[in-house]
Amino acid sequence: MTAKGFAKGLANYGDAEFSLFLRKAFVKGAGYSRAALDRPVIGVVNTGSAYNPCHGNMVPLIEAVKRGIFMGGGLPMEFPTISIGETFANPTSMYLRNLMAMDTEEMIHAQPMDAVVLIGGCDKTVPAQVMGAISAGVPAVQLVTGPMLTGSHGGERVGACTDCRRYWGRHRAGEIDAAGIEAVNDRLVASVGSCGVMGTASTMACIVEALGLAVSGSATPPAVTADRMRAAEQSGLCAIGVAHAGLTPQAMLTADSIRNALRVLLAIGGSTNGIVHLTAIAGRLGLPVHLAELDRMGRETPVLIDLKPSGQHYMEDFHRAGGLPTLLRELKPLLHLDAMTVTGRTLGEEIDAAGPGFPQDVVRPFGAPIFPEGGIAVLRGNLAPGGAIIKQSAASPDMMEHEGRAVVFDGLEDLAARIDAEDLDVGPSDVLVLKNIGPTGGPGMPEAGYIPIPKKLARAGVRDMVRLSDGRMSGTAAGTIILHITPEAAIGGPLAFVENGDRIRLSVGNRGLDLLVDEAELRRRAEAAPRRRPTADRGYRKLFLDSVLQADQGVDFDFLRGKEADAAGAG
Ligand code: FES
Repeated sequence: MTAKGFAKGLANYGDAEFSLFLRKAFVKGAGYSRAALDRPVIGVVNTGSAYNPCHGNMVPLIEAVKRGIFMGGGLPMEFPTISIGETFANPTSMYLRNLMAMDTEEMIHAQPMDAVVLIGGCDKTVPAQVMGAISAGVPAVQLVTGPMLTGSHGGERVGACTDCRRYWGRHRAGEIDAAGIEAVNDRLVASVGSCGVMGTASTMACIVEALGLAVSGSATPPAVTADRMRAAEQSGLCAIGVAHAGLTPQAMLTADSIRNALRVLLAIGGSTNGIVHLTAIAGRLGLPVHLAELDRMGRETPVLIDLKPSGQHYMEDFHRAGGLPTLLRELKPLLHLDAMTVTGRTLGEEIDAAGPGFPQDVVRPFGAPIFPEGGIAVLRGNLAPGGAIIKQSAASPDMMEHEGRAVVFDGLEDLAARIDAEDLDVGPSDVLVLKNIGPTGGPGMPEAGYIPIPKKLARAGVRDMVRLSDGRMSGTAAGTIILHITPEAAIGGPLAFVENGDRIRLSVGNRGLDLLVDEAELRRRAEAAPRRRPTADRGYRKLFLDSVLQADQGVDFDFLRGKEADAAGAG
């Protein structure tokens, strides 16, 4: 018989019965009675941290999750893991995502639990938790902390972080002085919770609900509302169900679940980071995410949500409009409705249970989209043989077909040193190129792909330019920005050999990204300055640099992906 509860995964003292005897004594020492020990044990992952205000509602959430677990007859066991706050992590939160995934996996694996409730919210935490839970092979329910409230500045509604970037752009252009920008800073983050627009955190919240890993309707309630606490209580209760059913993420998630999540990602105009994370999640299941399939799905999946940065509303508006079930109802013809969820019901049954919907202006009908194609297009060409992506729903329509002269920056230091120089040779139709911010070059693929418009052009009224890099971009940013160029410059991808003055052609219509330099010249440049993969002497940095994969494989570590995903290729 498979061990359950505290009898699972005993500490190894060479005598299993003694190990259990000892464990029970220590649990009782914490004040638990014998009756408590017989219940299903549900781990509750605490990622509260003063360095992570996006998880600032962790204490009441944990209380509510525990209440749900007790209601279902289980015993909650709270434990900590790493927490990553996006704006506090150096060099970038992505550098730590795989570490958090490993921590989550190992602590779920090492400690006795029949199921686990994962509580995360800030950008990298949710993918890290899902990746870890898949690899740990224990039944799991994901709960997100929920979005922050919107604030108000000078009568204008504001919220992190699309408005942070918009106001900062105006400050750089000289429209807002130092006192003014400080005043906006006071208003941008009105409460604890994750960013209140369709950035990476909100994208991942929608993705985990679409995957069926979170309870229906739990993606959108703001962090400080009763709805959020009820979602937490329901998540705790739901964990009892998956524990009894032995429903692990591997058993539940299929290729169709991943396709549903991709559809949702496209239809919400979701963060480009969502592609990387979903690829990593699928990779843990041994399932490849083919960029070609993503692009095909993109061409037939309209953007239906009118939310910043692609549209005008905020996450709290999306919640008032019925949350993700409102979108899923519209997307039904494109979804695999028999995909299973943690409630034990299928996605189709969950959509039906959410009711018929009501008039609202956040989620458009399928036939009247905000943008006719999916938010993200996949580009290929001699500059990106392994692919690149553009969030076309947040780009300037008149720049989707563009040819321009390259203005090249070798890395973040070079960018900081020269981007605002008055003598920088740059014009509005040039293409800004930033190298060496990929998975190993960053390291950790920082969200620096949102290259600022050079100050002298910003002052002259230029608001967007074609910009490209091997890095990522915050899901809250907008512009004609090409990201995730694969392979990255630091390992010798073609991007490494772009020089000032080269011509670059972007055609979103043809899905092309090309460097208009002949092959012989590119070969000559590569031979003149060969690249060696970066490494480090010790510690996590060495592990990271030696093991991290490219964007088209989710930036996971090579030894953590399911073997089947690699065999099938990420095409
Ligand atoms: Fe945490 Fe945006 S900084 S979700």
